[in-house]
Amino acid sequence: MEKISLNIDKVLSFVNKADIEKNAALAKECNETLHNGTGKGNDFLGWLDLPSSVTAEQLQDIQETADRLRDKCEVVVVVGIGGSYLGAKAVIEALSNSFDWLEKDRKNPVVVYAGQNIGEDYLFELMNYLSDKSFGIINISKSGTTTEPALAFRILRKQLEDAVGKDEAKNRIVAVTDAARGALHTLAKNEGYKMYVIPDNVGGRFSVLTPVGLLPIAVAGLDISKLIEGAVFMEENTKPEIPFEENIAEQYAVTRNELYKKGKKIEILANFNPKLHFLAEWWKQLYGESEGKENKGIFNASVDFTTDLHSMGQWIQEGERTIFETVLSVARPANSVLITSDPEDLDGLNYLIGKNVDYVNKMAELGTQLAHVDGGVPNIKIEIPDLNEYYLGQLIYFFEKACGISGYILGVNPFDQPGVEAYKKNMFALLEKPGFEKESEEIKKRI
Ligand code: PA5
Repeated sequence: MEKISLNIDKVLSFVNKADIEKNAALAKECNETLHNGTGKGNDFLGWLDLPSSVTAEQLQDIQETADRLRDKCEVVVVVGIGGSYLGAKAVIEALSNSFDWLEKDRKNPVVVYAGQNIGEDYLFELMNYLSDKSFGIINISKSGTTTEPALAFRILRKQLEDAVGKDEAKNRIVAVTDAARGALHTLAKNEGYKMYVIPDNVGGRFSVLTPVGLLPIAVAGLDISKLIEGAVFMEENTKPEIPFEENIAEQYAVTRNELYKKGKKIEILANFNPKLHFLAEWWKQLYGESEGKENKGIFNASVDFTTDLHSMGQWIQEGERTIFETVLSVARPANSVLITSDPEDLDGLNYLIGKNVDYVNKMAELGTQLAHVDGGVPNIKIEIPDLNEYYLGQLIYFFEKACGISGYILGVNPFDQPGVEAYKKNMFALLEKPGFEKESEEIKKRI
């Protein structure tokens, strides 16, 4: 098996190689701090050895639950927000056939999402779509009290119970939540739903390799053992014992921090494969929520190329020079589409006859990299050999490990998210939630 690779050559005209090498020791120290559990947020380090501690029995149990849902349901609704849905969605979108959900005789249930927003029209349309489908619900909330998923679950659960009865609904609802606390835990226990636990020491955005991600991914018909296998490989290969020159998590963490020090305050994760769109959404949460605090942190953005070369391409090429790009490149496409001949050649494409579409994509990628570097945008390249469960497992763990190291280099606690509470407090005050009477009074004076 190969491994994903990191190439920072196209950063070296912006950052001194010597500076990166000088900081290798700091990255190593931060990596050791993670493993010794002596740094900030050290009660949330359960993700570090998660891949190697998942047992075959746990995977089998998750697979059996997934198979039950697959047997019973045409559609499975994953209810969750932030770290409780993005990882699953990232993997499912990356590895599923983009048009499968439109097929009548699908092999896999359609996986849809709810509770990731409070859009009334979205929920209405989802309920309408579900009204003539046989469906099930995976309700994921670590705290078990988050408003968005709680609201969606309350409404969808009623719809399901009305459609199939309370008893059958119990066979189609699975809860993934805290081991002992929270409203979802209590409800699942009272109702007798199958329940999975999110370990106390694994935060939401680091939870994709727990049942939070694994159950929906298995429901989508993907191979969760291979995902874990890839993550185990990366767990081994990013340990502090692995020298900096071979340790891509340490290298990525140092490089992005060096760029940040040079005024590159925005990191754009770019892909040349639209299937990776949600991988970038997951990555943005992972890094944004981990590092954006104490008035510090790189701003995380993302683009899908070549699509966005026709929208944000101008800004990236010639806008304010505060950005760097990290390109996710898939070495080999899973399928082949050859460019056919056309006797009239009105579009002038006959020079490409016999080439496959990915050849054109790769030339666009190379051309873009060179143009952006010429335009003052440093470029980090992450290459994924094939888009499959094994390499996505590697990629997920790589990003998580680099995030932990990078947060420590920056000097923040990468495992908390105190800023997320601010909007909630105001929203509860405005909604006049019991217990928020004082805040309600105060906020009314400000509007
Ligand atoms: O990373 C995090 O901790 C957050 O993004 C959470 O995943 C998100 O807020 C959802 O929380 P919960 O799972 O408690 O409903």
